[in-house]
Amino acid sequence: MRSNAQLAEFHDHAPQEDSFRDAVLEGLARSRKAIPCRFLYDARGSALFDEICRVPEYYPTRTELRILEDRAGEIAALIGPHCQLIEFGSGSSIKVRTLLDALDADAYVPVDISRDHLRRAADDLAADFPNLDVVAICADYHHPFRLPSRPVRGRRFGFFPGSTIGNFEPDEAVDFLAMCADLLGDGGAMLVGIDLKKDAAILDAAYDDAAGVTAKFSLNLLARANRELGADFDITRFAHDAHYEEGAGRVEIYIRSLVHQKVIIAGRRFHLAQGERIHTEYSYKYTIPEFRDLARSAGFRPTMSWTDADDLFSVHYLETGG
Ligand code: AVI
Repeated sequence: MRSNAQLAEFHDHAPQEDSFRDAVLEGLARSRKAIPCRFLYDARGSALFDEICRVPEYYPTRTELRILEDRAGEIAALIGPHCQLIEFGSGSSIKVRTLLDALDADAYVPVDISRDHLRRAADDLAADFPNLDVVAICADYHHPFRLPSRPVRGRRFGFFPGSTIGNFEPDEAVDFLAMCADLLGDGGAMLVGIDLKKDAAILDAAYDDAAGVTAKFSLNLLARANRELGADFDITRFAHDAHYEEGAGRVEIYIRSLVHQKVIIAGRRFHLAQGERIHTEYSYKYTIPEFRDLARSAGFRPTMSWTDADDLFSVHYLETGG
């Protein structure tokens, strides 16, 4: 068992509970039905997402990790010593370990909305890196939050891996990066992982794997509504529907109704036609110049961009100012 000698400091700025009930009732009342993708990540959804990261077709996780492993020394040299590393949506804090092994960081600030998961991951990391000041912040990283009021000797350095920025609409991605630039301040830097545009067949397979893990992840939204809202979705009457829309540059993910049916949720009745879809997620893909332009519109100066040998995924080093 781990001793309690080295635990992370914990700051709780979590917002009021975001209502799944309101989002489902409002989203299914629309002519184009939709449920926001943030609701995919309850405990079951988060476990299924971890499983997605291991299926052979879903290349982003392992490809990004490989780029980080290959470039960790170069990244550490760019950042310099004594940085404060801030990770937006830190989850299990796995990928950051590769950076921390190479960096001479003073502090690590993981920011995540999922309180218990964050506390566990931060404590584990604090135990494994005893010289690192670990200050976990439970907050919705999409909105401005306060950083620990410690003096920072080196740079403030943001980390946003996993192509999570692809789940934002491009204008939201710019707003988010602009908020990060503000938070990191003058002399700050940020490392962002972003999935690249590529052949539709590779993307279609990555978002609809043969073992059906991504389908389970999507359909868990309906199972969650059954569990938490007493809805009566018959999951067997729905299918996962994901495909790359080349013109829009994004993978579009829906839940499709296989038959004409009605569902009761919190006493309200909803009809779905056969073939009608509930939108759940977009996953935008960029070219390297497109992403660098987006970062520039947010006030960053993109300096380095790295990819893997097959040009599947990219990692960008951005500096604040100028
Ligand atoms: C979290 N996010 C970056 C994933 C993606 O690739 O857009 C979510 C995902 N949805 C289905 N598969 C993966």
